[in-house]
Amino acid sequence: MEDNWRLGLHLMPPEGWLNDPNGLCWYEGEYHVFFQYSPDDVNGGLKHWGHYKSKELLNWEFTGIPLRAEEPYEKDGAYSGSAFVEDGVMHLFYTGNVKEEGDYDYITAGRGANEIHAIYTPEGEVISKECVLTNADYPEYYTCHVRDPKIWKEKDTYYMVLGGRDRDDIGKVLVYASSNLKDWTFLQDICSKEPFGYMWECPDYFEVGGVKLLSISPQGIETAGHDYENVYQSGFYKLSGSIIGRYALQEFTEWDHGFDFYAPQTFSDDKGRRILVGWMGIPDADYTNPTTRRGWQHGLTIPRVLTEKGGVIYQKPVEELKELRTGSVVIENQKTIFFDIAELLVQNQEDQGFTVIIADGMNICYWPKEHCVTLEFTDAALGSGRRIRHCNIESCKDMQIFLDRSAVEIYINHGEKVMTSRYYPTEDKRSVKLQGSQCVATLWNLKPMSM
Ligand code: FRU
Repeated sequence: MEDNWRLGLHLMPPEGWLNDPNGLCWYEGEYHVFFQYSPDDVNGGLKHWGHYKSKELLNWEFTGIPLRAEEPYEKDGAYSGSAFVEDGVMHLFYTGNVKEEGDYDYITAGRGANEIHAIYTPEGEVISKECVLTNADYPEYYTCHVRDPKIWKEKDTYYMVLGGRDRDDIGKVLVYASSNLKDWTFLQDICSKEPFGYMWECPDYFEVGGVKLLSISPQGIETAGHDYENVYQSGFYKLSGSIIGRYALQEFTEWDHGFDFYAPQTFSDDKGRRILVGWMGIPDADYTNPTTRRGWQHGLTIPRVLTEKGGVIYQKPVEELKELRTGSVVIENQKTIFFDIAELLVQNQEDQGFTVIIADGMNICYWPKEHCVTLEFTDAALGSGRRIRHCNIESCKDMQIFLDRSAVEIYINHGEKVMTSRYYPTEDKRSVKLQGSQCVATLWNLKPMSM
């Protein structure tokens, strides 16, 4: 039987489990997307790095598992990390996870966190793995939870950020420097004024429009009104000053307000775009993904270009997706139409309330008085345990919605805010209906990417 939940706009595992995007880069004329991959266990077992590549972000080739956890220093997983390209060489940095035998809590003891440097050859092989940092190299006030290296270069120096949990259960980012990618020296750690969660995973540091951003995925944040509704968060701080000197972090902004988003990473391509890809999933959620019954779980988000305007960071789906458009139709108020994969644009210049109903049970509503967009499942099976998420917004002038076979991404006001979620319709063709007489809505049918 055809699996009508297989995705057409999102990278997904051929089979088994996928989590974080890893090693994102543009290298020798191609985009490379590695990802945390457990092919044999749909619920996530031993993690390796799977790999896709593409020339234009639309036709993807799955090349297999170039990076396998097979050495003693990574025996319990080749955990997340990044790529750094220089002089035609793709360097990979990742965390080798080791769990020692014994009666340990695996937080303060019993876990090895080895930062490993390797090379990905033009032939697609991972060679010359070398351990460049081990637990002994982290400040003694850290637990064994230190991981997810991201590398960049300024002047002649390479820098690395790592996510960590200290022994007071405060999430922090560790900053290291090196002159040769091999010998690394601890410079300082970065934390918020008030503790913000017990662990910061998957750090990333980069600039958008001259604004310095520190992206993290913190764990241990309580829900506050419409903020932080998921079990774990992902977002960024604007950083003023210097990440290697005196710095200040401004307020934390969530990357995404949907149910399924975590552990994003960014890279820049040959066009100078800063592109973000997230895991379209989250660990330890109380909702599920029935794709497990069909032998696979999770996907990655659409690549999103980051820009800055007036201090606001925007996320826009890459332009390349327009190539997938086949025909368009105008959607009239209260009229139902059917689609396989689609892009829907709702223009709402009058700033009036409206609702988009997908598959008779996933409602996307804009509430102008409440200054809020909600994503709510009225059909329990469709949401598989997901109920409602909120996104505060001053006004909603337009909304671009990507409707994949079992995933939705909602871009509000040209990507000022985004909401990403899975949904599990039973029909092969899904319905969409607009309620909102003031809006103009256009739907493009999209053909799937090739994978
Ligand atoms: C985030 C994460 C990373 C880790 C990886 C293991 O989802 O927990 O911190 O490296 O997943 O798969």
